[in-house]
Amino acid sequence: MSKNAISNSVIRRLPRYYRFLGELELTECVRISSRELSERMGLTASQIRQDLNCFGGFGQQGYGYNVKELREQIGRILGVHAENPTILLGAGNLGKAIATHIDFHKRGFRLIGIFDLNPELTGKKIGNLEVKNTNELEAFCSENKPVAAVLCIPKAAAVDEANRLVSYGINAFWNFSHYDLSIEHKNVIVENVHLGDSLLTLSYGLNSLDTESEN
Ligand code: NAI
Repeated sequence: MSKNAISNSVIRRLPRYYRFLGELELTECVRISSRELSERMGLTASQIRQDLNCFGGFGQQGYGYNVKELREQIGRILGVHAENPTILLGAGNLGKAIATHIDFHKRGFRLIGIFDLNPELTGKKIGNLEVKNTNELEAFCSENKPVAAVLCIPKAAAVDEANRLVSYGINAFWNFSHYDLSIEHKNVIVENVHLGDSLLTLSYGLNSLDTESEN
């Protein structure tokens, strides 16, 4: 099956497989059956077999999956070794937290620049990078060729900044700006992230619990 034909929901599950297999590897687990993996992950064994078959299937009948190999193969599909050069816009509370707490290099990215329009932040260190002013963005992009950007800027600035960055060669956005960015450019991909949506899902779960116990 070509990569393009793989459904979004399968792709969304791959990082989870990768994470679970990483945890299994730490426990020195060498192989696992689709049934055991399904029990740990709360999926069905057939779901797991179907998902992994989209990429050619990695298991062997009667043996299950080799944990290390499967993790490596999923990692390759996810592109974890790509080291895509990445910049971050908005060195406020969220930007700082993301720059310091996310292991970009373990997930296919390398954070090479942090930018903010507030001149008071210029030169301040976040991790091992110094914040640069956004007036340096164009020159920086032309010299360092980042391909991805993390947007930790206010909603009102998101569209203009994203369009500007596309013109500087950025074609992937990890967007936290509370605006569902859908860039109208060919070959530009966006991952909009809203932590609040996840919290609302939890709220729904709690409300459903209340309703169930009342019935
Ligand atoms: P903050 O006010 O601490 O930081 C925002 C920073 O962006 C400031 O340093 C500001 O100077 C800078 N900035 C503003 N416009 C800019 C531009 N055009 N280019 C470069 N830098 C620019 O705000 P905080 O708490 O860091 O939040 C940032 C954004 O992320 C807010 O819009 C907030 O609503 C959103 N947010 C989203 C979450 C999510 O789950 N998606 C979670 C938390 C915050």
